[in-house]
Amino acid sequence: MLLRTEKLSKHFGGLKAVDRIDFELEEGEVRGLIGPNGSGKSTFFNLVSGIYRPDEGSRVWIDEHETTGFEPHLIAALGVARTFQLLRVFSEMTVLQNLLVGHHNHVSYGTIASMLGTRGVRAEEKRVREQMMELLAFIGLADFADMLASELSVGQRRLLALGRAMAMRPRLLLLDEPAAGLSPVNVDNLLRIILGLKERYGLTVVIVEHILRVVMDTCQKVTVLDHGQKIAEGSPDEVKNDHAVIEAYLGREMEDDEVRRALQA
Ligand SMILES: Nc1ncnc2c1ncn2[C@@H]1O[C@H](COP(=O)(O)OP(=O)(O)O)[C@@H](O)[C@H]1O
Ligand SMILES: [Mg+2]
Repeated sequence: MLLRTEKLSKHFGGLKAVDRIDFELEEGEVRGLIGPNGSGKSTFFNLVSGIYRPDEGSRVWIDEHETTGFEPHLIAALGVARTFQLLRVFSEMTVLQNLLVGHHNHVSYGTIASMLGTRGVRAEEKRVREQMMELLAFIGLADFADMLASELSVGQRRLLALGRAMAMRPRLLLLDEPAAGLSPVNVDNLLRIILGLKERYGLTVVIVEHILRVVMDTCQKVTVLDHGQKIAEGSPDEVKNDHAVIEAYLGREMEDDEVRRALQA
């Protein structure tokens, strides 16, 4: 078991954002984590990655290490990387520099800046650069390595955010709505790249989405949250036809066709 949670909970005042979630993830899985807006998906990631401290009674393990209450840098050191729902890239840096910063996640910015300066490139730096260029090639951004991140399209920035998380060489990758704002063609491209990265680097992946369709072909198993609770778990087909899941989506103020799109393949 690569990741396990037991009664994982987080409240904000009277709101139970995540409510007693038991979750188990096997090494090598690509898991979908879906649910309507506000159902607790991002909070779940924030708890697992140590950004939020879980409530009393919660427990989290990565491998056999109990990580409940660990700081984010310790969880990152155990091989957990994530992307954020709102895009986080350094727009004033080049594409390659963004990856180098991701790689040296624990080194201060000043050190990175001096390393990226005109000092001679040492063998180690050269090796890291080569690795990062390979990663850029894999995600289709090699031709943009020296371009400023601010010059990229939204689709390319989503890829760059993925690359930055991958630059840490994680074993477990947590992707928070990686396809948000992308056109259908770009969504397909991104999902193909995610699956390629998984194969190439032997990753385990959790993909948060609010639209089930996006995870249908990508994930063998899907976990569904509503109001902070796990309401269903199973294959995409099982989940799509689950009464509680349909209710959760229909219960929201959604347009009819939005519900249909959310649920249908
Ligand atoms: N830092 C916070 N302070 C207060 N409420 C929060 C905070 N983070 C999330 N919430 C609330 O917790 C609930 C779950 O949010 P979130 O995990 O972001 O949902 P999702 O990612 O599924 O859309 C929402 O009602 C949200 O407003
Ligand atoms: Mg979210």
